[in-house]
Amino acid sequence: MAEETSDKRSETTLDEVVAVCKRRGFIFPSSEIYGGVGSTYDYGHYGVLLRNNVKAEWWRAMLTDRDDIVALDSAIIQHPKVWEASGHLEGFSDPLVECKVCKKRFREDKLDLGECGKKPSKKPGEGPDCDLGEARDFNLMFKTQVGPVADSGSDAYLRPETAQGIFINFKNVVQFSRKKPPFGIAQIGKSFRNEITTGNFIFRTREFEQMEMEFFCPPDEASKWHQHWLDERMRWYTELGIRGENLILRPHDEDELSHYSSATSDIEYLFPMGYSELEGIANRGDFDLTQHATHSGEKLEYFDQQSGERYVPHVIEPAAGVDRATLAFIVDAYWTEEVEGRQRTVLSLHPKLAPVKVAVLPLVNKEGMDVRAREIFEGLRRRIGAEFDAKGAIGKRYRRQDEIGTPWCITIDGDTLSDDTVTLRDRDSLEQARVPVEGLADELLRRLEEPWVSPRA
Ligand code: GAP
Repeated sequence: MAEETSDKRSETTLDEVVAVCKRRGFIFPSSEIYGGVGSTYDYGHYGVLLRNNVKAEWWRAMLTDRDDIVALDSAIIQHPKVWEASGHLEGFSDPLVECKVCKKRFREDKLDLGECGKKPSKKPGEGPDCDLGEARDFNLMFKTQVGPVADSGSDAYLRPETAQGIFINFKNVVQFSRKKPPFGIAQIGKSFRNEITTGNFIFRTREFEQMEMEFFCPPDEASKWHQHWLDERMRWYTELGIRGENLILRPHDEDELSHYSSATSDIEYLFPMGYSELEGIANRGDFDLTQHATHSGEKLEYFDQQSGERYVPHVIEPAAGVDRATLAFIVDAYWTEEVEGRQRTVLSLHPKLAPVKVAVLPLVNKEGMDVRAREIFEGLRRRIGAEFDAKGAIGKRYRRQDEIGTPWCITIDGDTLSDDTVTLRDRDSLEQARVPVEGLADELLRRLEEPWVSPRA
């Protein structure tokens, strides 16, 4: 579970991030025309493209770049016994306290209690007058009913993590993939938690998407693979442009460990509210397979027919949030500067994450420039994520592309019509170069594959 762990703050404020996301149509509060619904968000056009790129990069790291991981897509509603076996029904709860005065509810473990142990000494209460009742365990799972009759036999839950869908498919995957440990099963999907306290924009919401991979290995290799996944996951974030100085790896203290974990380290990012969990990498031992074997009566173990070896694999789990990673990428990419007396806001996203890779802009919307620009755009769009924008002054169009994180703009001007070259403008350095139209897509694709470092590093 995410913890905010330090007083240090990112130089970008949450207000700035929320404003640019709204202004440029990345993310909107859900059900806004009805006044919103607690901490649920909708993604607009550029938000969808950015999130898709985050997920595609995760799949690339899990599947394309390796041959020891396979994909899975399990159901959101699973047999209720899954949550009994996993320990979620019993233990997936936070301590809830209610204030007798303001009637607000808080997570007790997130409050800075005063000496009497009852009054919060500072916000998030309504002030020092809060009078908190006793804490009680509040289960975070969303309960629902399956079928037309609402009785206790129809109780079901929206999954609070994607991981259990992987464990209950262990047998299927081993049978059909013919993988033997060490190997992993990866999944991206929605999870739901009735969080007591939400907030900080898309950092903690009740509906969110997870990217989880369960890596099954021989028990005596678990520590080695745990270290491997700590290194790999840190590398994933830094290669996608997150500045190393904004990331830390924090091992959990003994009393923080989840019921299933013998060792967990969190990758924490310096969010506007301080260092907070971005991803957890846990050594889950044989807890889950053993629990599901006991509760289902199915043998969930690995048997090597050649050697006659039989064991319950241990599991290493890198568990990340799509929305939280997206927030971290935006925060890390956001900066402003003054150019010729005007403020320029830039999202210096890694080009692979940028919603649009190249914007095609006719200098003016006439004299044949618009027609040629459209032709060039049609040639590019099937090979690389491109956008055509002919509306408004060229300066304003550049600023708009900077704000949505487009790494390259190409401008079609009068010279293009005579020598078939265009101006290629770089989002971060503002450098402009004259390049031929011929080979433009190849040149951009080449740049896309180059190692990339944030201009803010
Ligand atoms: N299977 C292990 C597991 O679910 P977790 O630390 O509770 O572990 C993993 O969740 C990741 O999922 C977190 O690091 C975070 O990125 C994301 N996550 C968890 N709860 C979230 C929430 N309420 N809103 C957004 N993301 C969340």
